[in-house]
Amino acid sequence: MGFYERYLLPRLLNLAMKSPDMRRLRQQLIPEAGGHILELGIGSGLNLPYYERGVSVIGVDPSLELQAYARDVAEANAVDVEFVADSAERLPFSDNSFDSAVITWTLCTIPDPDLAIAEVRRVLRPGGRLIFAEHGRAPDLSVRRWQNRLNPMWKKVGGGCNLNRQPDETLLSGGFNFTSLETGYLRGPRWATYTYRGIAELA
Ligand SMILES: C[S@@+](CC[C@H](N)C(=O)[O-])C[C@H]1O[C@@H](n2cnc3c(N)ncnc32)[C@H](O)[C@@H]1O
Repeated sequence: MGFYERYLLPRLLNLAMKSPDMRRLRQQLIPEAGGHILELGIGSGLNLPYYERGVSVIGVDPSLELQAYARDVAEANAVDVEFVADSAERLPFSDNSFDSAVITWTLCTIPDPDLAIAEVRRVLRPGGRLIFAEHGRAPDLSVRRWQNRLNPMWKKVGGGCNLNRQPDETLLSGGFNFTSLETGYLRGPRWATYTYRGIAELA
C-alpha cells in the first residue's frame, strides 16, 4: 500500500463522507437497525452516532487506518462495537447470527458486491433487515455517460470506488426485497451523488 492509500485516502474519505446530505440519510436510516448488527465497510464510523442505545455492532472493514477514526467515534458515543479487519466477501460469522445489517456507501467499493450480499444473506437471521444507502448508476443518460467515462480514473483515486454500479440490482439478485427504496441525487456532482437508500428484507 502506497503513501496515498495509507495516509491521504483515509483522511479524504473521512471528510468526504460527512456531507450534510449524507448525515441526514444516516440520521434517518441508522436508527432502523436493531439488536445485534453487522455493519459492512464501517469505515471511519460515521454511522455510529445514530444507532439506538443498547444495540451491539460488529463493524467489518479491511482498513485499519479508517478503523482508528471509528474507534474514537465509538468511544465518544459510547456504542458497543467490535471491529473486524476482514473482507465482506468472506465473513467469519455463523449463519443466522445477526438481527440487522447496515451498508452505506460501500457496495461501490467492495471488489465482489454479489459475494458480499450472499454473505449478508447467510449471516442475517430470517426476518432480519438490511439498511442501506449507496451511490450508483444514474437514470439520466448524459450523467451515466460521465459516470462510465470517469470510472477508471475515479476508481484509482477513490480506493476502488465505482460510480456506475447498480446496488438495487445487486440486492434483488442477492435474494432481498425492498420494504422501502428511495432514489435521487444528493447535492454535489451528479455523477457521484445518485443515491439508492432504504430497507431490504430477505425474500
Ligand atoms: C466510501 S467508504 C464508506 C465508509 C462508511 N460505510 C461510510 O458510510 O462512511 C467505503 C468503505 O468500504 C470499505 N471496503 C473496501 N473493500 C471492502 C471489503 N472487501 N469489505 C468490506 N469493506 C470494504 C473501505 O475500507 C471503506 O471503509
